[in-house]
Amino acid sequence: MAIAMAGRRERTKQLLRSRIATAILVGILFGCICAVLFPNGFYNSGSSSTPNTNSTSKVGSASCESSERVKMMKYNFALISETNAQLKKQVRELTEKVRLAEQSTENARKQVSVLGTEIKAGPFGTVKSLRTNPTVVPDESVNPRLAKLLERVSINKEIIVVLANSNVKPTLELQIASVKRVNIQNYLVVGLDDSMESFCESNGVAYYKRDPDKTVDKVGETGGNHAVSGLKFRVLREFLQLGYSVLLSDVDILFLQNPFLGHLYRDSDVESMSDGHDNQTTYGFNDVSDDPTMGWARYAHTMRIWVFNSGFFYLRPTLPSIELLDRVSDTLSNSEAWDQAVFNEELFFPSRPGYIGLHASKRVMDMYEFMNSKVLFKTVRKDQELKKLKPVIVHLNYHPDKVERMQGVVEFYENGKVDALDSFPDGSE
Ligand SMILES: *[C@@H]1O[C@H](CO)[C@@H](O)[C@H](O)[C@H]1NC(C)=O
Ligand SMILES: *[C@@H]1O[C@H](CO)[C@@H](O)[C@H](O)[C@H]1NC(C)=O
Repeated sequence: MAIAMAGRRERTKQLLRSRIATAILVGILFGCICAVLFPNGFYNSGSSSTPNTNSTSKVGSASCESSERVKMMKYNFALISETNAQLKKQVRELTEKVRLAEQSTENARKQVSVLGTEIKAGPFGTVKSLRTNPTVVPDESVNPRLAKLLERVSINKEIIVVLANSNVKPTLELQIASVKRVNIQNYLVVGLDDSMESFCESNGVAYYKRDPDKTVDKVGETGGNHAVSGLKFRVLREFLQLGYSVLLSDVDILFLQNPFLGHLYRDSDVESMSDGHDNQTTYGFNDVSDDPTMGWARYAHTMRIWVFNSGFFYLRPTLPSIELLDRVSDTLSNSEAWDQAVFNEELFFPSRPGYIGLHASKRVMDMYEFMNSKVLFKTVRKDQELKKLKPVIVHLNYHPDKVERMQGVVEFYENGKVDALDSFPDGSE
């Protein structure tokens, strides 16, 4: 069945492509025929067939007429070329839409086979449990103003969201420049103080100011790094309720490619970059602890993974994602805990007596595509092969000299300056 469906999708895709190609061809042919039949365009060509023709208007030398004709053909040709370019652009957009549709069809198919009437497990090796939860029904009444804004700024119901106050302008400025270099349109700054509006306007990026909310806004305006970090879990809720997938980004991140174009899997509630720095720490490993006093049973196995980085993650608008936000906000409002620790504890700790764990599906992003600055400065810049790969983003999370290192990253990856990263130490000194 999977093969049959894949075949059908393939045929649909081919059909779509061949239809578009035919449309382009017909358009060009039609343009050429028009150029020959109606050298003067559609509107004044009618005059030659109307009965009350003014004979004097036909006066004109042959050479003049043919140069007119050449001009007209040139004009038509330009028109056709332009149409052609537009069609090509539409084909590109359609291809991306087809890819997205395929991704969600595949996810929907899995959902149906899990949620549907199939109760028997089926043969060995064919069983797949559900990881792509259904999305919530969008509720515009939650925030009509934000709904309008997102309708305008988002693409395919996806949006990058960045929280910022005036303390972070230097890094935000570098981020915005990187976003523009790779032509990302669905990017939104949530301003936490009043100075952000004019800053965003002069930088030409979409801006959203939240409705006044005393407790939250006090933190936003005066809060330090960690306090502001905790805010995002409250702010993001409405985005999900409105039915949008959110890619939350800290400000100390550079975009070197558009993450929405082929770099997200969109199959989990939470898809996050990692603080890990190699295969083990990023993707998880079996860490064996040793207690010699236990003799025969001295080795105990533990599961370890470096934390998900709560400065860059993608949330699908599902109930588990919203529950995650609520749980993290709730815990943070009752303690001084670090938001990234809470975020990970909610995601990974199982249910236990007196506690019900969150059941969210999770995926860790590729560590070389979504690269933290430890990976970049300790490994990648010293590795001849890894150096050649361009990441999708670089997050300067491991280093305090953010502006200088961000500038180095831009020089290295965007301006081809091969020694731009050499002068920095691996860690902070
Ligand atoms: C024909 O053209 C002449 C000169 O331009 C004009 O005076 C005359 O009114 C026109 N006749 C008609 C029927 O359009
Ligand atoms: C990490 O894992 C990938 C994929 O399994 C593998 O190709 C690569 O060699 C591994 N890297 C190291 C350093 O072990």
